[in-house]
Amino acid sequence: MDIKNLRLNYKKSTIDFKNLAKNPIQYFMNWFEDALKVNNLEANACVLSSVSSDNYPSSRVVLLKGINENGFTFFTNYKSSKAKDIDVNPNVALNFYWPELERQVRIVGIAKKIMINDSDNYFKSRPRESQMGAWLSDQSKVIGLDYNFMETLNSLESKFKDKEVERPLHWGGYCIEPIKVEFWQGRPSRLHDRLEYKIEDGKWIYKRLAP
Ligand SMILES: Cc1cc2nc3c(=O)[nH]c(=O)nc-3n(C[C@H](O)[C@H](O)[C@H](O)COP(=O)(O)O)c2cc1C
Repeated sequence: MDIKNLRLNYKKSTIDFKNLAKNPIQYFMNWFEDALKVNNLEANACVLSSVSSDNYPSSRVVLLKGINENGFTFFTNYKSSKAKDIDVNPNVALNFYWPELERQVRIVGIAKKIMINDSDNYFKSRPRESQMGAWLSDQSKVIGLDYNFMETLNSLESKFKDKEVERPLHWGGYCIEPIKVEFWQGRPSRLHDRLEYKIEDGKWIYKRLAP
């Protein structure tokens, strides 16, 4: 395997700097629609980075589950490592990479817990196994190598027999309110197009960045 010779010459598209959206959420929605058209697997998979109380960054994949004018929503366990990071430092980054489009989106923003009823509504829409999963796992805790989920699953099944599975209070959504969003489109000869939106005095300002 010769890693140093792995290289693509990007040439699928361009950013039309004469035709931009007023805010990055609108621009993101256009790109996300494009990604859904070409990426039938998980166009909503993105990398969330947070910083721990001892100042170490850490990244993991999460699934985007909503976009609106406020920002980008994902769901998780409020006791997980990422949630502990966010408790002390809500500044996070979210990164989407859609290789089929030769596009990347980098978002910096502030993570805030969403309203309880919005978490409830999304939880209700999940398949029963995923709902049980939210109860089953103390996400990010150390468990024994021989830990067997079946016992806990059995007791949960009797607890919720013939009933709806309630949302555990430690499970819910965060909305990342963006303060900076960069759109990157791969271009030939590494002369990529980069468009950055940043909030300045409460307004979105856009700039082109050198590749
Ligand atoms: C494709 C994919 C999708 C994932 N989606 C989520 C998600 O939406 N929410 C979540 O909490 N973890 C998700 N995970 C698991 C996280 O990457 C991570 O392992 C978990 O959240 C624990 O992270 P933490 O210990 O940093 O809190 C996903 C992993 C992959 C690979």
